[in-house]
Amino acid sequence: MTEIAKKPIKITETILRDAHQSLIATRMTTEQMLPIVEKLDQVGYHSLECWGGATFDASLRFLKEDPWERLRKIRARAKNTKLQMLFRGQNILGYRPYGDDVVEYFVQKSIANGIDIIRIFDCLNDLRNLQTAVKAANKEGGHAQIALSYTLGDAYTMEYWTNIAKEIEEMGANSICIKDMAGLLLPYAATELVTALKETVKIPIQLHTHYTSGVASMTYLKAVEAGVDVIDCAMSPFALGTSQPATEVMVETFKGTPYDTGYDQKLLSEIADYFRPIRDEALESGLLNPKNLGVNIKTLLYQVPGGMLSNLTSQLKELGAEDKYYEVLEEVPRVRKDFGECPLVTPSSQIVGSQAVMNIVGGERYKMVTKESKDLLSGRYGKTVKPFNPDVQKKCIGDTEVITCRPADLVPNELETLEAEMAKYKEQDEDVLTYALFPQVATDFFKYREAQQTKMDASVADTKNGAYPV
Ligand code: CO
Repeated sequence: MTEIAKKPIKITETILRDAHQSLIATRMTTEQMLPIVEKLDQVGYHSLECWGGATFDASLRFLKEDPWERLRKIRARAKNTKLQMLFRGQNILGYRPYGDDVVEYFVQKSIANGIDIIRIFDCLNDLRNLQTAVKAANKEGGHAQIALSYTLGDAYTMEYWTNIAKEIEEMGANSICIKDMAGLLLPYAATELVTALKETVKIPIQLHTHYTSGVASMTYLKAVEAGVDVIDCAMSPFALGTSQPATEVMVETFKGTPYDTGYDQKLLSEIADYFRPIRDEALESGLLNPKNLGVNIKTLLYQVPGGMLSNLTSQLKELGAEDKYYEVLEEVPRVRKDFGECPLVTPSSQIVGSQAVMNIVGGERYKMVTKESKDLLSGRYGKTVKPFNPDVQKKCIGDTEVITCRPADLVPNELETLEAEMAKYKEQDEDVLTYALFPQVATDFFKYREAQQTKMDASVADTKNGAYPV
């Protein structure tokens, strides 16, 4: 066994992205973020995660903000710290595979607007779905991190993880992230996994987990002792529960040890003071549900992410079938097995979840099948780690052609078409990408933006008229 070098641990701060995505449905506004960015920039974090994931959609849809503008404003204030984003492989930040030209252009523009590190993942861990984004990040001089969607199951042996890590290194990724969206990685399993990965690859290993199941800070401790390079934490007002372990707690834990971050607790406590009223406000308005702050042991029992549990609850409520909750929970692993034992992360978590609901509420398994289930079973999301259940596949898709190539090979380049469709709304180059990801939401946003400008112009004209009476 190789000797593990003991070195200061690095931290990625998630308060501007995953923390509020996990706790308050991604509703933190740019206005709430900006006053504290300069202080966050002084901490000395490895990186500041502030973009991608659901932030893009939520900014446009609910906050009526231009996500690109947010990124530029954060970049202008964070002069020293690397900015990081989460990127869903060939789906970018949307829900379908895009043409390679759109993926490349999105990566180019993200980096041009201020992103340094792009964390790229695929819900099936099919590395072919990450190729284009990784190449584009390399080309633009960005740091391409590949995140492995962590999950449990027969297929996910140590051999699986080390083999795929080797492939990632060979692909030209700059680092690997173990992305444990459900909080399934237990402390001693973390020792084993991190040790094995450190022995296999030379590129840095980062660990991302959620507190949902209550083990996260213990998992970090064991992972750090096993040599992990970076851990993802959130400032305490938006930590724990479905979010990450608290930054200040992890910093204090390693103080005076070889893993000491050297971060200034006084500065961290000033940052926490800033975010606390935002948390209080969210608790008061109900945006932050105290239920999300406790330990949800069901995630360990059923191995499903917290977000998926709440989706299932709301789907069943809509169908008036709330009494079927536990039956559906037990159906989830069965569907997952039929579907090639895929990890459960966006979008596979939604596909498996919705199908489990239909199987139980419909009274017969696979009598009703979603379009997404059919696409998955015909290879349109990529390759799963295990083969599909052939009987289920037959029942769901019949004689539909099954593809085995990289799904995006079947998607032609589409930038030009998209440009033509949205030309009349275009105010900046990035608008075509916004439109590509969420055509309807983007169009609504563009119209809103135009209306705001007209209003502003009118009020400027009014003031002028008032100041200079004719
Ligand atoms: Co996360």
